Amino acid sequence: MAIYREESFQSIFPAESEIPEKLKISKPIDGCRYLLNGQIHYWEGPVREVFSPICLRGTDGKVGPKSIGYYPLCTEKEAMEALDAACRAYNNGRGTWPTMPVAERIQHFEDFIVKMTNQREEVVKLLMWEIGKSQTDSEREFDRTVEYIRDTITSMKELDRKSARFTIEQGVMAQIRRSPLGVVLCMGPYNYPLNETFTTLIPALIMGNTVVFKPPKLGVLLHSPLLEAFRDSFPPGVVNTVYGDGATVVTPLMKSGKIDVLAFIGTSPVADVLKKHHPKPHRLRCVLGLEAKNPAIILPDADLDLAVRECILGSLSYNGQRCTAIKIIFVHSEIAQAFVQKLAAAVDQLKVGMPWEKGVNITPLPETHKPAYLSRLVADAEAKGAQVVNSAGGEINTTLFYPAVLFPVNEEMAVYHEEQFGPVVPIGIFEDIQSPIDYIINSNYGQQVSIFGSDPGVLSSIIDPLVNQVSRVNLNSQCQRGPDAFPFNGRKDSGEGTLSVADALRVFSIRTLVAAKAEPINKQIITQILTERTSNFLSTDFIL
Ligand code: G3H
Repeated sequence: MAIYREESFQSIFPAESEIPEKLKISKPIDGCRYLLNGQIHYWEGPVREVFSPICLRGTDGKVGPKSIGYYPLCTEKEAMEALDAACRAYNNGRGTWPTMPVAERIQHFEDFIVKMTNQREEVVKLLMWEIGKSQTDSEREFDRTVEYIRDTITSMKELDRKSARFTIEQGVMAQIRRSPLGVVLCMGPYNYPLNETFTTLIPALIMGNTVVFKPPKLGVLLHSPLLEAFRDSFPPGVVNTVYGDGATVVTPLMKSGKIDVLAFIGTSPVADVLKKHHPKPHRLRCVLGLEAKNPAIILPDADLDLAVRECILGSLSYNGQRCTAIKIIFVHSEIAQAFVQKLAAAVDQLKVGMPWEKGVNITPLPETHKPAYLSRLVADAEAKGAQVVNSAGGEINTTLFYPAVLFPVNEEMAVYHEEQFGPVVPIGIFEDIQSPIDYIINSNYGQQVSIFGSDPGVLSSIIDPLVNQVSRVNLNSQCQRGPDAFPFNGRKDSGEGTLSVADALRVFSIRTLVAAKAEPINKQIITQILTERTSNFLSTDFIL
C-alpha cells in the first residue's frame, strides 16, 4: 500500500506547535561569532539570514519558510586576518603546533572529542533544521564524525610508531617521518557539513598543519556550538573560521598564495576556479571530493529484491543528495519490466515527512532552486519519451519533492548526463553490457559503480574493465563512502587525492627525513640527540 496520499502530502508541513519540544527553535540563532587567533569575535556587520527547508504552516493554513538564525557575511579583511593567524601559528613550520610531539598533539584531540560530544544534541538539531537531514541520519553523521576522530588518533599513533626507528641503507642512516605542509583551507559541502568538513580538517590538524575553515553556504549555524571546543582545545591560530560569500572571502585567500593545501568538497567548476586563483599552482596541494554520476548495472541474473533494496538506499538516502549516490540505473532488457515495477512499488512505500518523524525517508530539500530544477529534468525526460513510473513521482510541495522514477531514459535527456543530486531515479535499458561500460568510459566522472548479478564469471569480466574507470566497484551493494577505513576518491572530474582515515594523514603531509652518512661523528651526534631528547623529529620515542 502506497504511503503517498495527495492530501497528506499537501498538508505535510507542521504548525509550530507540532514540532517536538526538544527540537523547537524558539528564537533565531545568533551565529555571528567567528574564531580568530584563539579568540571568539562577535560580528557586527552584515549577516545572512538562514531559512530552514522545513517550512511551517501558519494559523491561516499557509506554508512559509522558517527563519532559524543568521551568520556573518565577513569581508576580505576578516578572511585575511584568519589567514594571517594561521600563518603565524604555523610560523614556517616553527610554530608550537607543527613542532609539537605527536603524543602531545593527540592529547589536544582527546580533549576536543570530550568538548565536541557535549554539543551533540545541539549540532544534531541544527543539522536537521539547516539541511533537512533526518534525525537518524543527523545523529549518524555526528557519531560517525566522532568515530572518525578516534580512528584518526589510532592511525596517527600507528604512523608515528612506524617512524620511531632509523633506517640504514648503503651506509646512510636516516629517520623518515611525515611532516605537515603548512596552511590548509578546509571547505566542506552542504550535504555532510559536519562529517565531510571534519574528514579533512581533523587529519590536516593532527599532522601539524594550521587551518582556515569556511563552512558551506548551507549548514553554517551547526558549527557555532563547536567554536568553544576548538578555542579551548587548540593553541591560538591553529583553527580559524571565516564565513560569507566564497567570492569575497575565499578568492583573496587563494590569491595570496599562502594557502598550501586546498581541501574542498564541492563541484569541479568551483574547484577549478579556486585552483586558478593560486599564483603558484605547483605549490598548492589539492584534496578534492567532486561530482559523480555513479551508475548501477542490473544483470539478467540479479537478485531483484536485493537490487531494488540497494538501489533505493543508493539513490534515495538523504533524498539522493550524496556524491556517492546511485544517479542512474541500467537494467538488462530481460528483467527491465520486473525490476522497474518492483522499484517503483518500493519508492511508493517511502515515508515523506519532517526530519524528526520516525522512519522518514524523504525530507525537505535545502537548496531553494532544487525542486524546480528536478521538475525540469523530469519534464525534459518525459518530453523525450520517458515516463514517471511511480504513483506520485515529481509532486512538489514547497521544499519537498516526491521521488520520481523515470523510465526508460536515453542519452537525449539531460538527466542521463547531469548529476541530479536529488530524488530523481533515472533507469535506462541495455542489451549488451558494453553499453553501460561505454557510458562510464564516456562520462566526465569516475567515482563508483554498483553491479548486480550472480554469475562470478560474468561479474569478473565486468569488474576488470571497470576498476580502471572508477575507483570503487560495488558488488550487489549500493555505492558509498564508508567504512571510513576504506579509500575514498574519484577519477576524472570526481576528485583528487585519496581520503580514508589512514590515507588522509598522508595527503596532508609530506615524507621528510634526516639523513647522515654512518660516520662515527654522525653516530655520536644522533645518539646524543636521542639520549638527551633535544629533537622532536629525531626521536625513537614510541607512543603506547
Ligand atoms: O556526499 C558524499 C559522501 O561522502 C557520501 O558518504 O556514501 O557514506 O553517505 P556516504
